[in-house]
Amino acid sequence: MRVAMIGTGYVGLVSGACFADFGHHVTCIDKDAGKIAMLREGRIPIFEPGLDELVARNCAAGRLDFDTDLTRAVKEAETVFIAVGTPSRRGDGHADLSYVFAAAREIAAVAEGFTVVVTKSTVPVGTGDEVERVIRETRPEADISVVSNPEFLREGAAIEDFKRPDRVVVGTEDPRARSVMAALYRPLSLNQLPLMFTARRTSELIKYAGNAFLAMKITFINEMADLCEQVGANVQDVARGIGLDNRIGAKFLHAGPGYGGSCFPKDTLALTRTAQQVGTPLRIVETVIAVNDVRKLAIARKVEKALGGQVRGRTAAILGLTFKPNTDDMRDSPALSIIHALLDKGMRVRAFDPEGMDEARKVLPAAVEYGTGPYDVAQDADCLVIVTEWDAFRALDFDRMKAILRQPVLVDLRNIYVPDQMAQLGFVYESVGRPVGQSAEENLDAAE
Ligand code: UDX
Repeated sequence: MRVAMIGTGYVGLVSGACFADFGHHVTCIDKDAGKIAMLREGRIPIFEPGLDELVARNCAAGRLDFDTDLTRAVKEAETVFIAVGTPSRRGDGHADLSYVFAAAREIAAVAEGFTVVVTKSTVPVGTGDEVERVIRETRPEADISVVSNPEFLREGAAIEDFKRPDRVVVGTEDPRARSVMAALYRPLSLNQLPLMFTARRTSELIKYAGNAFLAMKITFINEMADLCEQVGANVQDVARGIGLDNRIGAKFLHAGPGYGGSCFPKDTLALTRTAQQVGTPLRIVETVIAVNDVRKLAIARKVEKALGGQVRGRTAAILGLTFKPNTDDMRDSPALSIIHALLDKGMRVRAFDPEGMDEARKVLPAAVEYGTGPYDVAQDADCLVIVTEWDAFRALDFDRMKAILRQPVLVDLRNIYVPDQMAQLGFVYESVGRPVGQSAEENLDAAE
């Protein structure tokens, strides 16, 4: 089958390369000529484990190519994916759909024969109807069916998620489009792919509902962590204790500095805007957004606490800048808010990230200094702050750290280390929802 994939961001590039790997012929299209030139030379503009090898293999096999113009690929394709960005619109938080509609117009102008146009980008409910209207306006006689097919892959695990998804959701009421989509995804179905067909609007909403629910789960455990700190309980045990209940599930209950990334913040905001517009405000999701925003700023207080309130003029060594490990993505990363807060408090900030340094230099204030590794940034710093749980930070040599830090202070915002062990090593240790040496009784007594 011939596929045209418009947009070579995370979703477009990964989906395109994976479809090619399953034997389809895929052309990935992007208006950014620089990006296309890079891809043609076999260089990948983003960091995603395994993607370089996957792209190279499929290019060599002649199943994957790149273009700045969509005309040829769209003419030949049975399915055309729109995987362009849908950033938050400045001012009102609605998803900005201008790239989606521009792509729809271009597709309509050149499509030949029956063509399924698939929105892969995360788009608000009803966008499929709008895309259809734009296409009809551009070329009323075009034989095009508009389908919603949201993508659930996670950055850092994108290839695995695409190839072995929990489910594939396809929103269409058109039987012809349905059989094209079934054929497209058939190679994934050896082990009983849960391919789920729904109405188009339902499919669009599933994506937002899923992300909002996951954001809510994280925010819930983050608030539990705050409560744990006050009553002397351990949030990791609470997460395990509730997560073993199948109805709750163990995943996405890892307390931390607040969620970030290219999806959760943007999608939760867009969902609440849609809901407000139709007079059904989603109060839970609105609260999740507010709680998470406040958390990302407030979490910097942990550094203040660990340093006994004395932060002005002191140096924080930040380990991890990306919103999560195995990506170079800094979008809405908690590190951004934390670093701004520390600089505002008069601290000096030195930072290191295994893959995010280039991006960090673009988005962080000029006052931030950079190091070449965890021990380099720790040299003469007053405290070490782990913001992202990269593997490279999971087995640090604390004897070495102790020798180079000005004082042995570790703020572990991802709960990588064990409080009692850190205390034994002589560190002042702050983590999330796991107080050291405090029993519930003691704290409750004190509160009475
Ligand atoms: C998310 C969804 O998981 C994915 O299905 C959707 O398609 C896009 O958005 P992604 O943004 O790549 O994927 O990252 P994810 O792994 O979900 O993490 C999002 C944020 O939540 C990160 O900042 C992460 O650190 C945080 N998180 C996640 C927690 O703080 N605790 C958890 O238990 C899980």
